Amino acid sequence: MKDFNGKVVYITGGSQGMGLAAAKLFAAKGASVAVFARRKEVLGQALEKISACCQGPGQKFSFFVMDVSKQDEVNSVMQQAVAAIGVPDVLINCVGRARPGYFRDISYAQFDETIKIDLYGSWNTCSFLVPLMKAKGGYIVNVSSMCGFIGVFGYTDYCAAKFGVIGFSEALRSEMKQYGITVSVLCPPDTDTPGFVEENKTKPPETVAVSASSSIMQPEAVAAAMLKGMEKGGFMIIPNADGKFTWIMKRLFPWLVDMVTDSQIKGVQKKAQSAK
Ligand SMILES: NC(=O)c1ccc[n+]([C@@H]2O[C@H](COP(=O)([O-])OP(=O)(O)OC[C@H]3O[C@@H](n4cnc5c(N)ncnc54)[C@H](OP(=O)(O)O)[C@@H]3O)[C@@H](O)[C@H]2O)c1
Repeated sequence: MKDFNGKVVYITGGSQGMGLAAAKLFAAKGASVAVFARRKEVLGQALEKISACCQGPGQKFSFFVMDVSKQDEVNSVMQQAVAAIGVPDVLINCVGRARPGYFRDISYAQFDETIKIDLYGSWNTCSFLVPLMKAKGGYIVNVSSMCGFIGVFGYTDYCAAKFGVIGFSEALRSEMKQYGITVSVLCPPDTDTPGFVEENKTKPPETVAVSASSSIMQPEAVAAAMLKGMEKGGFMIIPNADGKFTWIMKRLFPWLVDMVTDSQIKGVQKKAQSAK
């Protein structure tokens, strides 16, 4: 998809972080944009920022309060959105959250919540919208992570969900091609967002050591890379050079990636042992 002018774009998680950055970019390219999240006040503030990027009188901007993890709620809110702004040409499933910790400390309740938000969230919106989108074609981007192709220390529940997002998207891509719907996954690296600030609060030291080697992106740069990726239409959209390098290394030399991360983790654990 090369031209977003006049298109209808739905973005879940569009009230802050990468979702908001993407919403502003689509608005600046002439699209009508609907954003979805749980907190009404934050959505309202986001809508003002998105509307400020408006290019012409034909564009519409709306927000909808919706929890992506609840299928009934998604069905009824999406129905309202379609009535208000039309069937989307573009669906960006950007909702997600990580609460890193040692496996022994991650409860079943947290695992369940992570899967419901990070994986079922994309399933729920797609299952309502895909039957409608089939008539005119379009584009779906599901946001995964580098944790969607590397099992990272401290992210057992999050990796399970984000690996799932890639598997779901790959199968969906194959089925949707015949309807003119392109499906991609976005795999951002660490990105400076409100979600990332929360995530950093519970990272075990080993996780900090592993992630210290990669650079942190700004949400605007990730959103710009996503739109560029959508113009090309490839399946994997990896916004930065570090991430692309890691993706290639993980596919070609998985043992080497494990060896490097294992030695970073061992270093931290050794230090902790000797400090006791
Ligand atoms: N930031 C990073 O370092 C990073 C790296 C790799 C991948 N990612 C992925 O990139 C995506 C965006 O991350 P971000 O850091 O920009 O997130 P963020 O700053 O935490 O923003 C998350 C957005 O999702 C909404 N949201 C959260 N739970 C929701 C739910 N159950 N239903 C509906 N909306 C919900 C939030 O609003 P409400 O709270 O009001 O609902 C907010 O609009 C996520 O999928 C994340 O996993 C992030």
